[in-house]
Amino acid sequence: MFRGIKNIIRFFWHLYRANVFPGCLFSYESKCRISIKANIIGFRILNYVSIDDYTYIAQNSNISYTNIGKYCSIGPNFLCGWGIHPTDGISTSPMFYSTMEQNGTSVCKKTKIEERKFINIGNDVFIGANVTVLDGVTIGDGAVIGAGAIVSKDIPPYAVAVGCPIRVIKYRFSPEKVDALLKMKWWEYGEKYHLSIERNFFDIDGFLKKYSK
Ligand SMILES: CC(C)(COP(=O)(O)OP(=O)(O)OC[C@H]1O[C@@H](n2cnc3c(N)ncnc32)[C@H](O)[C@@H]1OP(=O)(O)O)[C@@H](O)C(=O)NCCC(=O)NCCS
Repeated sequence: MFRGIKNIIRFFWHLYRANVFPGCLFSYESKCRISIKANIIGFRILNYVSIDDYTYIAQNSNISYTNIGKYCSIGPNFLCGWGIHPTDGISTSPMFYSTMEQNGTSVCKKTKIEERKFINIGNDVFIGANVTVLDGVTIGDGAVIGAGAIVSKDIPPYAVAVGCPIRVIKYRFSPEKVDALLKMKWWEYGEKYHLSIERNFFDIDGFLKKYSK
């Protein structure tokens, strides 16, 4: 008995040493396309999700029907895309409008609404901790979503948006620079440009001058 407990502790110790969060063992992924260059940390539930290169998602993510681009940074407790309930029917319970038996039963022969709408998150998007994104939303390239926000509408590229209801408080750069960055799409340049980005990190003008097509 004592040896059994010791082995369990040793098992988790080895996982810890190998940088594997034990939460991963209880995670669930279905119908996903996740780049081997992406990093999903700790416990996650992913359903119909694609995640591109160099994106990371912190602990405790729960994401479905979502495409996420490259170089995104997503904070802990990310809840994204868990379906639509109509509010203009007699009831909001899916047993009357969906065949999916969410509560274990359904009296419906055919689903009456579009229950899921894909969410698109662009490239180089930063999403703070404890953010919820509702179905069908698009978050543009380079956008920033403040901690605790509920993203209930589309967010333009390079906007900084916060709060609930969410609102754009500013843009990261001038409209001219945003246009140039969107035309440039540096995130498609590949690994050989990583060092140039690092060297020019706070010199946007110099970077655009040097690398704009
Ligand atoms: C959105 C964010 C990036 C903005 O940072 P910033 O550009 O430095 O903005 P400021 O701190 O100057 O704030 C600008 C205004 O927005 C408000 N604000 C900032 N973040 C906010 C948030 N998350 N929710 C609501 N309001 C927020 C500020 O109070 C300030 O309001 P004011 O103009 O009335 O004084 C930052 O506040 C944030 O939420 N970061 C996420 C942190 C996080 O979750 N880290 C974990 C990463 S893994």
